[in-house]
Amino acid sequence: MTQSSSRLLLQVLQGKGTAPFNRPPIWMMRQAGRYLKEYREVRAEAGDFLTLCYTPEYAAEVTLQPIRRYNFDGSIIFADILVIPHAMGQKLWFVKGEGPKLEALENPAAIKELDKDIHEKLSPIYESLKKVRAGLPDETTLIGFCGAPWTVACYMLNGQGSKSWAEVRHHAYSDPRGLRAMLDVLVEKSADYLCHQIEAGADVVKVFDSWAGSVPPHLQDLLVIEPMVNITRKVKAQHPDVPVILFPRGVGHETLMKLAKTEGFDCLALDEQTDLQWAVENIAPHKAIQGNMDNAVLLTTPEVVRAEVTRILNIAGHLPNFIVNLGHGVLPPTPVENVAAFVETVQNWDTQKEKSA
Ligand code: CP3
Repeated sequence: MTQSSSRLLLQVLQGKGTAPFNRPPIWMMRQAGRYLKEYREVRAEAGDFLTLCYTPEYAAEVTLQPIRRYNFDGSIIFADILVIPHAMGQKLWFVKGEGPKLEALENPAAIKELDKDIHEKLSPIYESLKKVRAGLPDETTLIGFCGAPWTVACYMLNGQGSKSWAEVRHHAYSDPRGLRAMLDVLVEKSADYLCHQIEAGADVVKVFDSWAGSVPPHLQDLLVIEPMVNITRKVKAQHPDVPVILFPRGVGHETLMKLAKTEGFDCLALDEQTDLQWAVENIAPHKAIQGNMDNAVLLTTPEVVRAEVTRILNIAGHLPNFIVNLGHGVLPPTPVENVAAFVETVQNWDTQKEKSA
C-alpha cells in the first residue's frame, strides 16, 4: 500500500501543513508537454494527439517524464479537457500548431442529442491513471482533472479556440438559462468522470475554467461559480476526503472572494493577474492557494527565474496552505534549465530557516 501521509501536496490540500517537509509543494500546469524533448519524441511516435491521450502506455509515459526530470510534488494525468465532448460523441480533432477543432453544436440545446455513456471511451484514461500511480514515487500526489462546464461549452459551441468567445457569449445574454441547462449536463458528466479518476488512483482533482474571465460579471454566479461548485459537491458526496482545486482563470478579485467563502472545495488556483499579497490576506484564510508565477518568467534566464520565485516565496512561502505553480500552462519554447531553477528554488526553501532569520 502507498503511504498517502507522506505526500506533501496532498497533506497541504488537506489542511495539514508542510511539516516535516517545511517548504511549499510545487508542480506546473502542462508540465508534460512540448518544452520537453522526451515528450516530443513520444508525441511523434503516437502521431495523433488523441492517440497519445487514449493509449495508456503513451499517456502514462509522458505523465511520468516531468516527474523523473524534476521530481515535482504533483503529477497531473496526461489527457485533455475536450475528451468529455469527444466521449459524448462530438467530433474532435487536433491540427498541429492550431489546437483543437470540434464540429460545433448549433445551439446549447443540441447537447441533448449527444449525451452518450462516456465511460467506455474514457476507460483508457482510467487505465493511464493506474499505470501512472504504479510508476510514481510514493511521495508524489496524483492529480486528475476535467474542464469546467463553461470552458468546455465554449469549445463545444465555437468549434475551436477563440480569444473572445463572442459567439458563445451571445447565448449567455439571449438565453442564460438555456446555456445553464447545457452546463448542467456537463456538470453531471464531469463529476462522474472525476469520480472514476479518483477510483483509478487520483488523490486530488482539479477543474480548469480557463475561459471563465470571458463570462460577463453579472452572470459569473450562474455560469462559473455554481457549475464548478456543483461538480465539487457531487464529487465530495462520493469521495469526501479527496481535495478539489478550482481554477477560475481571469475572473478577478470579486468572484475569487465569493468562491473563497463558498463551502465544498479546498483550493483556488490563481492566474498571474491575481495580486499574490492580496490573495494571501483574503483567500488563504478560507482556501489553500495555488499559483501564480507568470509563465513568461520561464522564458528568461535561471537568474531571473530564481529572483522571481524568491519574491513569490517571500510573500506566500510561509503559509501552511500555499502551492507553487504557474498562472497558466508552461509555454513550449521554455528552456528546461529555467524549469530546473524554478523547481530547485522551491525545493531548497526552508520555512523554519525563514522563521529564525
Ligand atoms: O497539465 C498537464 O500537464 C496535463 C495535460 C493537459 C493538457 N491539456 C495536455 C495538452 C491539461 C491539464 C490540459 C487542459 C486543457 N486543454 C485546457 C485547460 C488548461 C489550460 O491550459 O487553459 C484547455 C483550454 C485545453 C484545450 C486544449 N488542448 C488547447 C487549447 C490545446 C492547444 C494548445 C497548445 O498548446 O497547442 C490543447 C492541446 C494540448 N493539450 C497539448 C497538450 C500537451 C498540446 C498538444 C501537442 O502536443 O501538440
